[in-house]
Amino acid sequence: MASNGLKGIRTVRDLNVEGKTVFLRLDLNVPLDDGKISDETRITASLPTIRYLMDHGAKIVMASHLGRPKSAEDRQFSLEPVARRLSELLDAEVMLFDDPASDGVKSLLVGLKKNQLILLENVRFVPGETKDSEEFAQVIASYCDVYVNDAFGASHRAHATIHALPKLMKEKGVGLLIEKELTMLDQLIDNPKRPYLAVLGGAKVSDKIAVIEKFMDLVDGFLIGGAMAYTFLKSQGHPTGKSLVEADRVRFSGEMLKRIEARDKTVLLPIDHVVTKSITDTKSMRTTPGVAINDDELGVDIGPKTLVQFETALREAGTIFWNGPMGVFETPEFSRGTFGVAKAIAESQAVKIVGGGDSAAAAEASGHAGQMTHISTGGGASLEYLQGDKLPGLEVLRQRSR
Ligand code: 3PG
Repeated sequence: MASNGLKGIRTVRDLNVEGKTVFLRLDLNVPLDDGKISDETRITASLPTIRYLMDHGAKIVMASHLGRPKSAEDRQFSLEPVARRLSELLDAEVMLFDDPASDGVKSLLVGLKKNQLILLENVRFVPGETKDSEEFAQVIASYCDVYVNDAFGASHRAHATIHALPKLMKEKGVGLLIEKELTMLDQLIDNPKRPYLAVLGGAKVSDKIAVIEKFMDLVDGFLIGGAMAYTFLKSQGHPTGKSLVEADRVRFSGEMLKRIEARDKTVLLPIDHVVTKSITDTKSMRTTPGVAINDDELGVDIGPKTLVQFETALREAGTIFWNGPMGVFETPEFSRGTFGVAKAIAESQAVKIVGGGDSAAAAEASGHAGQMTHISTGGGASLEYLQGDKLPGLEVLRQRSR
């Protein structure tokens, strides 16, 4: 499989932005804890493009989604904390414009000073955003000269500010974050160093099972932990107790294992676990001697024997893609497996790429983030890109050569 990467896509450096109104779509979808930003990676990752545009004399209208609000009344999804943080980091005034669906921004743009930027309120407050509405896109197109997408994490969504809007714009391209993301991820698509291992975990089992199917032809082996492992173990007939199992995916998981093995590829599943009686109960935790989990217990982390197996495999790898923690790492007692895997990945000589919000947070919390080759800001987007899917937000920016 060959990557399409940046083929036919201009970057912000190729665009004339001086004195122009630039619409900059960012992914500022950061986790909020009681109104406070608990991880600002996506904000800091957006700064280089914002600064580039500021330094090149553009009038900047930024936009992002945050969470999945049902309506504009869902104020906990307001970008207000993000606007405040951006303003501090940029040492500039960030004006939050309350109604993204109106063209009232035009009057703000008239008097916009050098150190002022506009941020539209959460674009998902507008029903047309997730419907890829051309009507919504047209409002924005009526006051912008240039379109820049730097929202890698949202580029797999055919939404109005990602897809319908750039369709209407002539001057368009990607920002510096997307440029970096594609350059890094393309290393995994174009001749990855072998063996290429995918370390998969996390709770979104049904999403990831589909990923395995597509990744099967790309990688040499899978290391599977986290909640998704229990569905696979169940398919092999192992008792999984109260662990999270996607009942309707058990058969499919079993078939998947057979298909992977028929291709002579490795699949490592947990051979022991850290289990507990309930996810909030650390007192009843214990390590199982083997793969079986008692009826009244659930798995919350991979066990030490599994970790040793995973470490051995990771030491030999040429390329590693890691998506999804090995357990409930947010609870320190259940974090050993995830942090151990993070350390083993960090210490390997492989090209090591981390994709996804949870794994990025786990890499950060483990203290090993700095040793990774790249930590992608995209979860679903990085998976879709790596498995060869076309991302609507990128395809719409490709200029066909004549
Ligand atoms: C993400 O968090 O992966 C992106 O911001 C996309 O968010 P979504 O899954 O709500 O579209």
